[in-house]
Amino acid sequence: MSSIQSVILAAGKGTRMKSKKSKILHEVAGRPIIDWVVRCALDAGSSRVVTILGHQSDFIEAHLKSQFGDLVSFAYQREQLGTGHAVYCALSELVGYAERTVILSGDVPNLSPETLSAFLLASEDQAGLMTSVLEDAKHYGRIVRNEKGVQSIVEFKDASAEERKIKEINAGFYAFDTADLNTTLKQLLKEEPTNAQGEYYLTDLVAMIGPCLGWQLPDAREMEGVNNRLDLAEAESFARKRINTYWMLEGVTFIDPETTYIGAEVKLAPDVTLAPHVILKGKTTIAADTFIDAGAVIEDTSIGEGVHVLPHCHLEDSKIDNHAKIGPFVHLRPGADIGPECKVGNFVEIKKVRLDRGAKANHHSYLGDGHVGEKCNIGAGTIFCNYDGKNKNFITLGKGVFIGSNSALVAPLTIGDNAYVGAGSTITKDIPKDSLAVARGRQKNIENWSPPAKPKK
Ligand code: UD1
Ligand code: CA
Repeated sequence: MSSIQSVILAAGKGTRMKSKKSKILHEVAGRPIIDWVVRCALDAGSSRVVTILGHQSDFIEAHLKSQFGDLVSFAYQREQLGTGHAVYCALSELVGYAERTVILSGDVPNLSPETLSAFLLASEDQAGLMTSVLEDAKHYGRIVRNEKGVQSIVEFKDASAEERKIKEINAGFYAFDTADLNTTLKQLLKEEPTNAQGEYYLTDLVAMIGPCLGWQLPDAREMEGVNNRLDLAEAESFARKRINTYWMLEGVTFIDPETTYIGAEVKLAPDVTLAPHVILKGKTTIAADTFIDAGAVIEDTSIGEGVHVLPHCHLEDSKIDNHAKIGPFVHLRPGADIGPECKVGNFVEIKKVRLDRGAKANHHSYLGDGHVGEKCNIGAGTIFCNYDGKNKNFITLGKGVFIGSNSALVAPLTIGDNAYVGAGSTITKDIPKDSLAVARGRQKNIENWSPPAKPKK
């Protein structure tokens, strides 16, 4: 096969999004639209991807470089003179790099690499473009065929009443020989455009290059561009269905796929079960036999095997080892590292704390900046007082430590193995191993006491 590169049209303003942010940086399934397009190009065999930018180019360029490094390069179209003019602006980045050039739209997130690969295979030795047959062909460019293939594309605004009746439309993806692209674009730009929009149309190359392959998309939803927030929601819904279908076929149980949201970068093992209203984001990974119950929002977290996450947990940037039990209503903040067989229960918040094997914090606690040894038992209402108003300080609990309920542990602090803290203590000094610390007012009983009499009215 000949060498392939891609060029992405992305110089448009995207005003209908009514957003400060560039349209192509809005996300579908947690990934910016433009990233979907670049990945599609790379996964379908492009050796490099050139993106044509206009508005907010610095920002988009920095983003794409951070994601794709040297695989992406850029061209600039400062004035929007049409799709043909856009690719013309990229010629110096295209000619001499690869034999074939694929042209893609920067605002179409759902074109799959499988579809693009199939198209490239079919159009291997011919210029080609993707088409679709639509009941309502809207304002898309119309495909005019002869016996040899696609003869030309007529834009809706330039089409006659007869041509407007054509139901086969131009989906906006093309594959050309780079050399043909070079000669025909230079020719196109020689004369002022005479069409209805006064633009240099990329679609005019089809008639110039000669009969092209018109390859019909298996699913028209893959070509839909995002122009406003309605389109964005539809693209999201289509991407979600595709992602969920993929994971179901990989052995993941979804109790209600309609309400389950899995980000594009998430990885799941077979025999994971997801209850309704679960949202998995970022680089979350979940190992086999783990059950995530309803309402969990989990981001950038790695979860081991046989873990049970009970309803309504929010887990961010954390780690949970095998057979741990988390929730309900647990908040794991960045750096929570929950060891195997640990239990973290109702209304517990943990930040930057490692819990070793079998440790428990079952009710209403805040643990921040610390290390909790194996099999420690943290009583209800325990607070790690890790912040002195200026610095965050560290707390270390040895193995098998028992913290009585409603205790405040004031950092910095070290508690030795198998030490006990009496309930209601405020601990400010280290505790040696095998000792009991009690730090609270002693109880005083006043016998035969009666409350003061109420004043008479
Ligand atoms: C284009 C096609 C049309 C096709 C449709 C599919 C042309 C002339 N027409 O129409 O046949 O059915 O796509 O969606 O190509 N862009 C630039 N610079 C420009 C103009 C556009 O970068 O000067 C970018 C836009 O940001 C967008 C893409 O090119 O990503 C398509 O442009 P758009 O104006 O939406 O083309 P359509 O009129 O929809
Ligand atoms: Ca369009």
